Amino acid sequence: MQLSRLSLLVASFIASIGAQSTFTPARPPSIPLAVRSPYLSTWLNAGSDGGNGGYLAGQWPVFWQNQVTGWCGLIRVDGNVYTWMGLPGSKTVNQTAFEYTSTKSIFTMNVENKLEMNITFMSPITPSDIKRQSLVFSYLNVEVSSLDGQKHDVQVYADISAEWVSGDRSAIAEWEYGTTNGVAYHKVHRQTQLAFSQVNEQGEWGNWYWATDATNGMSYQSGPDTVVRGQFSQNGKLANSGDTSFRAVSSNWPVFGFTSDLGSVGSSPVSTLFSLGLTQDEAVQFAGSSDYGPLPSLWKSYFDTELAALSFFHHDYSASSSVATAFDNRVATDSIATAGQDYLTITSLSARQAFGATQLCGTQDHMYLFLKEISSDGNMNTVDVVFPAYPIFLYTNPEFLKLVLDPLYENQEAGNYPNDYAMHDLGSNYPNATGHSDGRDEKMPLEECGNMLIMTLAYAQKSGNNEYLSAHYDLLKQWTSYLVEDALYPANQISTDDFAGSLANQTNLALKGMIGIQAMSVIAERTGNTEDAANYSSIAHDYITKWQGLAIAKGANPPHTTLSYGDTNSHGLLYNLFADAQLGLNLVPQSVYQMQSDFYQTVANKYGVPLDTRHTYTKGDWECFTAAITSGNTRSMFIKDLATWINETPTNRALTDLYDTVSGNYPQNTFVARPVMGGAFAPLLVR
Ligand SMILES: *[C@@H]1O[C@H](CO)[C@@H](O)[C@H](O)[C@H]1NC(C)=O
Ligand SMILES: *[C@@H]1O[C@H](CO)[C@@H](O)[C@H](O)[C@H]1NC(C)=O
Ligand SMILES: *[C@@H]1O[C@H](CO)[C@@H](O)[C@H](O)[C@H]1NC(C)=O
Ligand SMILES: *[C@@H]1O[C@H](CO)[C@@H](O)[C@H](O)[C@H]1NC(C)=O
Ligand SMILES: *[C@@H]1O[C@H](CO)[C@@H](O)[C@H](O)[C@H]1NC(C)=O
Repeated sequence: MQLSRLSLLVASFIASIGAQSTFTPARPPSIPLAVRSPYLSTWLNAGSDGGNGGYLAGQWPVFWQNQVTGWCGLIRVDGNVYTWMGLPGSKTVNQTAFEYTSTKSIFTMNVENKLEMNITFMSPITPSDIKRQSLVFSYLNVEVSSLDGQKHDVQVYADISAEWVSGDRSAIAEWEYGTTNGVAYHKVHRQTQLAFSQVNEQGEWGNWYWATDATNGMSYQSGPDTVVRGQFSQNGKLANSGDTSFRAVSSNWPVFGFTSDLGSVGSSPVSTLFSLGLTQDEAVQFAGSSDYGPLPSLWKSYFDTELAALSFFHHDYSASSSVATAFDNRVATDSIATAGQDYLTITSLSARQAFGATQLCGTQDHMYLFLKEISSDGNMNTVDVVFPAYPIFLYTNPEFLKLVLDPLYENQEAGNYPNDYAMHDLGSNYPNATGHSDGRDEKMPLEECGNMLIMTLAYAQKSGNNEYLSAHYDLLKQWTSYLVEDALYPANQISTDDFAGSLANQTNLALKGMIGIQAMSVIAERTGNTEDAANYSSIAHDYITKWQGLAIAKGANPPHTTLSYGDTNSHGLLYNLFADAQLGLNLVPQSVYQMQSDFYQTVANKYGVPLDTRHTYTKGDWECFTAAITSGNTRSMFIKDLATWINETPTNRALTDLYDTVSGNYPQNTFVARPVMGGAFAPLLVR
């Protein structure tokens, strides 16, 4: 495969002289192929900075961290062989169209005007069906039909390489072939499983399954990449044999192939289905109310064995497709009604990425949602990463928001955290939710106290679960005391935008604290603590009146809030205002909303409004939060600029949330694939 990597330029040259593909609704920086969990996360880089422009054939798919996860597709038509995925060396099919929805990436290929192929990658999102959501599996469906009225003799081939099972290319892989309940599978894993360990962000434990229907026309083979692909190219079928020389991932690149003989194909489409996924009996370690230790993957509580899970998933394609399509349609209808097609371009690209950072663990009676920060670092359930993502959880199923907050509460209520403000994250290195019993987590006290209060109330309002508020009342009150102390004149500290540096008296951070105090007033009211409710409401209103005096550059034309108190030439995205609107608090006067809405238009660059006056970069998630609380032209401007950026950015990695509003490129940090893009759903919550 090294040779193939060198051929990248050649491939993009070939793609550029071949037929051009359309991209609907946009040509994203990177196309999600199989994106389902922190470890099942494979993409096709598309942007011009090293990507090939979004053509499935001619470039290897990659893990979000950018190492190749070898995934190859060939097709044989009347004896001639073409590549439809990856870069194994043969002539490529012509891609004519690409389209994405919230759960699917669909490529249409033309082969010599003889055959059409529809290639669908589907990573289901099934919000109200936790059993299906718990499976760390993804589909690849290949459908072909004749284009020229003739019948053609067709065989389809696809393989994965052992690169999927370890981020260490010298790790020894082991594999076996089997069948279960009509499903043929290659099972591939590290010979030495390293539980809860990662190399280059890939998980080093569990079993990978690559599967298809065990029909008569199916053949299989494992072996060196050139041998297995060569066998197919020459014979149109594989040897039904297994390579037993277990070896390093990069030693003669072992691959695991399947073929399907579709026979004589006419104008009615025929298809071959593949499933790909990861089974880990135990997925994370957690310090909750009991001792620190392993938690099972949630799918274990629905299936007795991993083969049962695989078999269910593979046979579930048509049902799963209906559920996924219903979800796609819901997002499409709501997005278009809220802010038009440009907005759907953003939401539908963000959905798999947000859920792709999560893993369901525990049992049906006691489950958790763990979330990996991804790329900026590997922190778990980072409170200020859950916060930007919370709109997608609230929109899809508010119980997800509870499941992601639960382990944070459980850890802190068990006395595992010594500080009186809210903990930043559940552990520095996914999948180890060790907590921070030494209290030395990244310190973002005002940010996280505000976030916890806001998100907890958001969940209770949407679900009606006031018991949840009572259960956590003491801690919520403790965090509120911190806000009462610090929110009016915030000490010099970092906010979630830590890459921008620390600052005292941050306008937007102060606002979050005040909204947090008012959220506590509502929490107190909902739990019958009327005195607290009155007290916190009066403090919050007193603060917000003072804040308007401190934070607004009144003499400016047009007036606007500043980045920090008194710095009249500064400004920034006042995105925390979103929480006031989303929770229906009415703490902040409408005049502030209107003022900001009028102001942003005057400071917009080509690809959006800068995060603040210190830099020209912005954050896609915060732009969506801000768009949610602006009106008319300003909202459309935010949405249009972000959608334009998605289509034009030279970045070629899984959707970044941090980009330059002038060049469209990365600033100093390469943030990719982060769940924070769940914030794209913010405008759907304040319609
Ligand atoms: C792709 O399109 C080019 C240009 O039309 C054509 O020359 C080539 O034969 C096509 N390749 C396939 C596999 O259809
Ligand atoms: C591909 O999808 C399009 C649009 O749904 C459909 O019209 C066409 O028949 C499909 N082609 C194949 C080969 O399935
Ligand atoms: C998680 O903890 C285990 C020990 O229990 C360790 O082997 C592993 O390297 C840790 N994982 C990470 C990503 O730090
Ligand atoms: C109101 O809350 C503040 C801050 O937590 C506290 O110091 C004060 O005692 C409370 N007042 C009443 C009347 O409860
Ligand atoms: C914060 O703002 C207040 C009011 O302008 C000022 O008195 C105080 O010195 C500022 N704090 C810091 C740390 O700059």
